[in-house]
Parts: sequence; structure tokens; C-alpha cells
Amino acid sequence: MESKIKTLEEKIDKAHLGGGEHRIAKQHEKKKLTARERVNYLLDEGSFEEIGILVTHRTTDFNMDKELYYGDGVITGYGTIAGRLVYVFAQDFTVFGGALSETHAEKICKIMDLAVKVGAPLIGLNDSGGARIQEGVRSLGGYADIFYRNVQASGVIPQLSAIMGPCAGGAVYSPAMTDFTLMVEDTSYMFVTGPNVVKTVTNEEVTSEELGGASTHSTKSGVAHITSANDVQCLEDLKSLLSYMPQSNAEKVPALPYTLGDEIREELMDIIPENPNKPYDMHEVISGIIDTDSFFEVHKDYAENIIVGFARIGGKSVGIIANQPLFLAGVLDVNSSKKAARFTRFCDCFNIPLLVLVDVPGFLPGTDQEWNGIIVHGAKLLYALSEATVPRVTVITRKAYGGAYDVMNSKHIGADLNFAWPSAEIAVMGAKGASEIIFRKEISKADDPAAKLAEKEAEYAETFANPYKAAQRGFIDEVILPKDTRRKLIKAFSMLEHKEVLLPKKKHGNIPL
Ligand code: COA
Repeated sequence: MESKIKTLEEKIDKAHLGGGEHRIAKQHEKKKLTARERVNYLLDEGSFEEIGILVTHRTTDFNMDKELYYGDGVITGYGTIAGRLVYVFAQDFTVFGGALSETHAEKICKIMDLAVKVGAPLIGLNDSGGARIQEGVRSLGGYADIFYRNVQASGVIPQLSAIMGPCAGGAVYSPAMTDFTLMVEDTSYMFVTGPNVVKTVTNEEVTSEELGGASTHSTKSGVAHITSANDVQCLEDLKSLLSYMPQSNAEKVPALPYTLGDEIREELMDIIPENPNKPYDMHEVISGIIDTDSFFEVHKDYAENIIVGFARIGGKSVGIIANQPLFLAGVLDVNSSKKAARFTRFCDCFNIPLLVLVDVPGFLPGTDQEWNGIIVHGAKLLYALSEATVPRVTVITRKAYGGAYDVMNSKHIGADLNFAWPSAEIAVMGAKGASEIIFRKEISKADDPAAKLAEKEAEYAETFANPYKAAQRGFIDEVILPKDTRRKLIKAFSMLEHKEVLLPKKKHGNIPL
């Protein structure tokens, strides 16, 4: 028995060394943790149970049978984060550059299947040179097996992807189909084709970082939802993000203990400027409403004219969507509509109530927007909010103009409670634009057209630049003082907690894509 135990111990020790000490040292030189270090940091101490540690690949071509590593370039298993069960896979760059073989893919699929059957989140730590070149189509088949499972698991369990090294070619499509993608600054990149292929096909000269680094994907493409300064921060961000999510679509997010006492927030009374065209930072409104320091922003540097993220209100997790007057006056455009629609759908999949804060002057005009399909993309947000059955509450802080009023969680598209601050202006358009259209003849005939326009503008503003016409119709349930907003929301979400909506039978809707 003693020698058999020794054999097992030797195998485990070998497995723990991955591709060997010199490759581990190379990984550290690049300021990257190894796959095993990442898993250990991510999970509660001592909670990790590995599955498939002794798996090796089955390839014989190119003398590959002479080069075997236990684990085959990916560490898979389960453990806990803050006491909650999660499944995790971490690609090991020290073994064939983390490249995906048939067996590597089988290991990932095995824990994906378990995660769905049990109902717990799946976290993927990606660090891979792509398809295992020596295996050809078997490796491609392995990717597709993962993609298929990503889709089957979508909306059933939260799926989070951290990109902590290369992620190129077909490999990018698994993270893209998960719920959130995090990228580590400077050490990670994602692209469908790398700089060399780009140069050959389009003659463009571009570096990996410019083409698909964390800053590119968090500002230009929106592929990355969160960027983290280094590996440790990325793993911390994963833990924080997860705390706002339930285990699966069959559960609700565990609420944190919360004691009443800080509901009235006087600081909210002075945020809206006297001049309706002056911007202010919607983040100040968010912090004035939520539990202290509980905001976790998603897509922070992408489409900044809308803010999305998770927070807690009275200890309970909520998803917040808020126009940001600091950028483009908070208009809706192609990117902000897509960003908010995607976030809405995540929250709706996973029973996370939605709070929508509105200060929107309308949709962004122009050929760029029209030619890029603002009609279809704006419709995404309208569709996503209309189909969401989670508790939905709206607060209009200032402008709610035109079609954007309808889109931003209006009563008409199924919001449960709609509040407005006294500073709200709910109308078809701003007073100046409206007066120029409906009083055009009167203004042009006037002795002093400018004075007439000003008079008509004031008249229109008096009639519509307030929340009271909407409140009279019941489109706004209550006009509230800003300082009372947090108190109202704690009560509203608590009242809506057991909301249920029965939907007509259908296979799935056809969201405009
Ligand atoms: N299949 C098999 N082995 C791979 C691999 C792949 N796709 N990608 C990397 N490797 C191996 C390398 O042969 C090397 O092995 P070694 O340690 O025995 O020398 C090891 O992984 C590390 O790769 P290396 O190129 O030294 O690392 P790097 O940090 O300099 O570069 C990449 C990383 C990913 C840019 C580079 O390895 C690469 O371009 N890989 C191929 C990417 C690709 O085209 N994939 C297939 C299409 S999806």
C-alpha cells in the first residue's frame, strides 16, 4: 500500500507543477498568477475540490504521446465564494500555452453540466493560446461543445468570464456568450484574428493591445464589462460581482442584513441645478439612494451617457439603469441602448429588481446614429424593459422627453411604480423646439419674433416642463421630494418582492438584434 500511496502522491505533485517550474517562472515574470494560484485566491480557503486532475490528452500525432501533463492545461472543480457554491475552470498557460484540446474541453464541459444540474454559477478564468494546434478539428469540436453548453446554461445560471491572458480566434465566443466578461489590464487580449492576420488581410498595422486589449474592449467595443488592474484585482472583482447575483434563475439573491435609520438623504435636495441645461453627475443621485458604497458599476467606460450597475437598497440587490447628464446630456444612442438592454436582460433572467433613473433629452439625432441603426438598437432597450417581469421602479429626476420617455421604464411598458421629482419635465420635446414648431406662424408674423418665441417657450414650459400633467393621468404614481427617494424605494421594492407575472405561452420572443 505504501508504494501505491507514494505513486498517487507523485502524480498529484506532478499535476500541481503544471508545465514545470521554468514555465511557472515565465508566467510570474509576465506579472500573471498561475491557474492554480488564481483558483486558490478566488475561492474560500481550503474549499476547492478538483475534478479531473489526472486527465491527459489522447493525441499521438507529432509525438504528442511523449508530452503529457496531468490536468491537460485546465484546472476544473468546485468550491465556495463567501460560502456559496461555484464551479470554476482555470486554463493553465504553462501547459501547451493553455491551448484547448479535446480532453481539456471535456473537463470544462463536465463542470458546466454539473453547474447547470445543481444550479450554481460558473466562473471561467481564460488564459490560452486557442485551439490546440496539434489536434486540429477535435479541438474545434471541443470549443463548440463548450459554446453549446454556454447557450443552454444562459439564463439558468450566472456565467462569468475573466480574461487573464490571451483569448483569440474561436476561443472568444465562449466568454462572449457568458453574462459578464472581465479583462486584466496589460496582460490580456481578445480578438477573432490577431495583428498578423489583420496586416495580411487589411494591411492595417496594429498591436495586440490596440486591437484587443482591456482598454480597447472596455471603451471602444464594449466586449469587456469590467477591467481590473491586475490578476488579484480581477479575482476580487469577480467575487464582488457574484455577491449581487443569485445561484440560479430558480433563486433570489441573498439579502444582506440591514437596519433602518438612514432613509432620509438631505444631500439629494441640491443635486439638480436651477438651469435645466446644466449637467450634473447621476452618480451622486445613485449614492444618495443606495446602501453606502454598495454600487458596482458595469461597463463603466463604455457608452458613458448611460450608467448601469448593481447596488443594494435596504440590503437587497438591485440593478440600476440611469441616464448620465454629464455625457452627451444623457441621450440614448446606439451604444447606450445596447448596454442598458443587455443589463436589463441579465437582471430579468436572474430575479434582480430594476431601478431606472431618468434624465433623458431624447435619442441622439444624426446620420451616424440612423445609419448605424438607432431604430433597431433603441428598440432593444424598449423590448428588454417591456419583457422584464422583475419588480421595476422608475424615478424621473429631470428630463423625460419624447420616445425616450416611453423607453425609460415608463408606466406604459410595464413599470410597477413611477416616481418623479418636482424638477421633472415630462413632454414630447424641450420648450424651445416645441414652440418653434407649433407656434411657427404666430412667431413669424410677430413684430418681434424673438420676443414672441421667448413668450411661447415660457408658456409651453409652464404647461409641460413639470411632472404634474403626467401625475394627473396616473402615468406618475407620486411626485416625491428627492430626500425621500431612498425611503420610498426601500418600501417599493419590499412591497414588490413577491411580484408574479404570467406570460402568454411562446417559444421565445424575437428581440430586434
Ligand atoms: N496549440 C498548442 N500549443 C500552443 C498553442 C496552441 N494553440 N499556443 C501556444 N502553445 C504553446 C507554445 O508552443 C509554447 O510551448 P512551449 O512552452 O513548449 O515552448 C507555449 O504554449 C507558450 O507559447 P509561447 O508562444 O511561448 O507564448 P507567448 O506568450 O510568447 O505567446 C501566444 C502566446 C498565444 C500569442 C502564442 O503562443 C500564439 O500565437 N499561439 C497560437 C495562437 C493560435 O493561432 N491559436 C490557434 C487558433 S485559435
